Amino acid sequence: MAGKLSPIQQATMASFRNDFPVLSKTMNGKPVAFLDTGSSAQKPRAVIDAMKAAMDTEYANIHRGLYQFSQVTTAKFEAVRAKVADFIGAVSEKEIIFTRNATEGINLVAQSWGRANLKAGDEVIISGMEHHANIVPWQLLRDQIGIVIKVIPVLQDGRLDLESLEKLLSSKTKLVSFVHVSNALGTINPVSTIIKSVSAYNRNIRILVDGSQAVVHGAVNVSALGADWYVFTGHKLYGPTGIGVLYGRYELLQSMPPYQGGGDMIERVTFEKTTYKDAPARFEAGTPAIVEVLGLGAAIDYVAAIGMDNIAVREQELLAYGLEQLSGVPGLTLYGPAENRAGIISFTADWGHPSDIAMVLDQCGVAVRSGHHCCQPLMDQFGIDATIRASFGLYTNEADIDQLVQGIKKARDLLGE
Ligand code: ALA
Repeated sequence: MAGKLSPIQQATMASFRNDFPVLSKTMNGKPVAFLDTGSSAQKPRAVIDAMKAAMDTEYANIHRGLYQFSQVTTAKFEAVRAKVADFIGAVSEKEIIFTRNATEGINLVAQSWGRANLKAGDEVIISGMEHHANIVPWQLLRDQIGIVIKVIPVLQDGRLDLESLEKLLSSKTKLVSFVHVSNALGTINPVSTIIKSVSAYNRNIRILVDGSQAVVHGAVNVSALGADWYVFTGHKLYGPTGIGVLYGRYELLQSMPPYQGGGDMIERVTFEKTTYKDAPARFEAGTPAIVEVLGLGAAIDYVAAIGMDNIAVREQELLAYGLEQLSGVPGLTLYGPAENRAGIISFTADWGHPSDIAMVLDQCGVAVRSGHHCCQPLMDQFGIDATIRASFGLYTNEADIDQLVQGIKKARDLLGE
């Protein structure tokens, strides 16, 4: 993610802000400084228009109709599967399963592959910086079949303690599941290095990567990384809610039993027995999120046209600016690593609670997330219950960060006495 944008590239990046209708609105009478993209990104006009067109034109259910509307919509839907495969470097569109979100992708792996392949005493390694979405599904499985969960510790500087990972690996380890980019700290984990060292220990250990915060911050190639599964969600990638992606190596997906049963995932149903379609259809029971998939396709077209590398470089400029500005505010503690970090800044203040500060920021037109960020174990490690998190998107600019800093100073004046 090195490099620098030329002045022309900078001006072009700045112009993309106009593509997002919400960003011209006010919040509490102030221009909105939207710094909660890590939670859910704003939507460009191209995505809004694509979803409207999907319902305005030849809308119909897919995979089921011989009439023109159904055939056309089916073709558009399946074209998005191929687009997603291309976007994340999958070998084939057959490796792409549409889910509701990243959470559903992880639950699918836990309940399908996990229940079929793990037994009591088998070990699953996760990390100390996981979102609850990559903790709770494994705890559910632990309660169902008795697996053991081990945790890679997080160092005080916000990086994973990879020396400890080597000590956690054992002959009982069956899966290592970890986040690519931490939603709470911004840490970009060295996925490739982790996968290589796990595979060097035992190449039969499966690897799942939660890429929800990673696919939005830079180019990802799942084949080059060597992950067995990789999940992400559409709404953080400037697309709609209700649509996510589970990538899986094809032969692995083919070996997995269905997660849910219903229409469109079967070959033949009798009351005695049902046979299932090949992956990915086997994992997509019921009518899928048709309009949302088409919206996701438009979002990928949108970011691909800008260039994920340009987005990453611009974000690093903003991150450097944000860290510098926030470091100058008295009484703040900033969390997260100094290097290899995405556009996410988490902090606390010694003069006010994150919720109180976030409420003052709201009055200043600044949208941030405050709380545990669905990472309570990580908060426990730092001995806090919450942080304030500013997270950047491709539309973020220096003025948003200045508005944040002004808001924090106002909060300090109000709360700090
Ligand atoms: N996972 C989302 C976040 O980090 C909701 O805020």
